[in-house]
Amino acid sequence: MLWYQIREYRDADYSAVRTLYSTGFREHAETVYLLALKQPWTQAVLCGIFLLIYVLSGSFLTCIIGVGGVMLAGRVAVQYIFEQGIQLGLSEDLLDIRTSYMQTGSRSCFWVAELKGSIVGTVGILPCVEEPGAWELKRISVKREFRGRGLAKALCKTALEFVARHDVKRVVLFTSMVQTDAHKLYDSIGFKKEKEFVWPSLPARLINFMVFKYAHSRTGGFMSC
Ligand SMILES: CC(C)(COP(=O)(O)OP(=O)(O)OC[C@H]1O[C@@H](n2cnc3c(N)ncnc32)[C@H](O)[C@@H]1OP(=O)(O)O)[C@@H](O)C(=O)NCCC(=O)NCCS
Repeated sequence: MLWYQIREYRDADYSAVRTLYSTGFREHAETVYLLALKQPWTQAVLCGIFLLIYVLSGSFLTCIIGVGGVMLAGRVAVQYIFEQGIQLGLSEDLLDIRTSYMQTGSRSCFWVAELKGSIVGTVGILPCVEEPGAWELKRISVKREFRGRGLAKALCKTALEFVARHDVKRVVLFTSMVQTDAHKLYDSIGFKKEKEFVWPSLPARLINFMVFKYAHSRTGGFMSC
C-alpha cells in the first residue's frame, strides 16, 4: 500500500515537477528510435550506405563500422529532437506553473502526488487551446518506481472531479503512439480515442509518428470507476 497524498501544486514543487516531466518524456526516445529503424526507407538507406562503403573500401569491417556510425548518429539525432521537445514543454505551461494553472477563480489547476516529501506524480488541467470550450488534461507523469499502483488514475480522477465541479462538459488530451502505458490509463478512466494524425514536423513525417487525441464527455460525472 502506497501512502501518498494528492495536493495542489506549490511553488516549492517547481523543479521536481519539471524534472518529472522531462524524465517521463525522455524515456520514450528509445522506442521512437526503434520506430525509425523499422521504416523501409531507413533500412534502404542503411543498405545503400553498406553497399557504397563496400564498393569504395572492399572491406566488410569498414562497412559495419560505417553503418554502425550512421545508426549511432541517428540515435543522437532522435535524442536531440526529444531534448528540443522537452525544452518546448518546459517553456510553455511549465515555465510558470503558477500563472498557467493556479490563478484564483480560473478553472485550471495542477496537482502533485507526494510521497514521503518527494513528488512522485503530476497532472494539470486547463482550457484547451486547440479546441475552445474543452479542457485539456496535461503533464501526466508518475515516477517509474511508483507506477502500476493507481497513482496516475488517482491524479486524473482528482482533475476530472475538479472540472466536473466547474461544469466542464468535455475534456481532451493528446498523446503519442509510443506512450502505450498512457493509452491503457486513458482507456481505464473512460477516455476514447477520437482522432489520430501525423505530427506536423519533418522528422515526425519521416517516421510516420502519430499523435492521438482522446476525449471524455461528461454525462453526470467523468469517472465511472
Ligand atoms: C502513463 C503513466 C502516467 C501511468 O502511470 P501509473 O501510475 O503507472 O498508472 P496507474 O497505475 O494509475 O494505471 C492506470 C491504468 O492503466 C493501466 N496501466 C498503466 N500502466 C500499464 C502497463 N505498463 N501495463 C498495463 N496496464 C497499465 C493500469 O492497469 C490501470 O488500469 P486498471 O485500473 O484498469 O487496472 C506512467 O506510465 C508514466 O508516467 N509514463 C511516462 C510519462 C508519460 O508517458 N505520460 C503520458 C503523457 S501523454
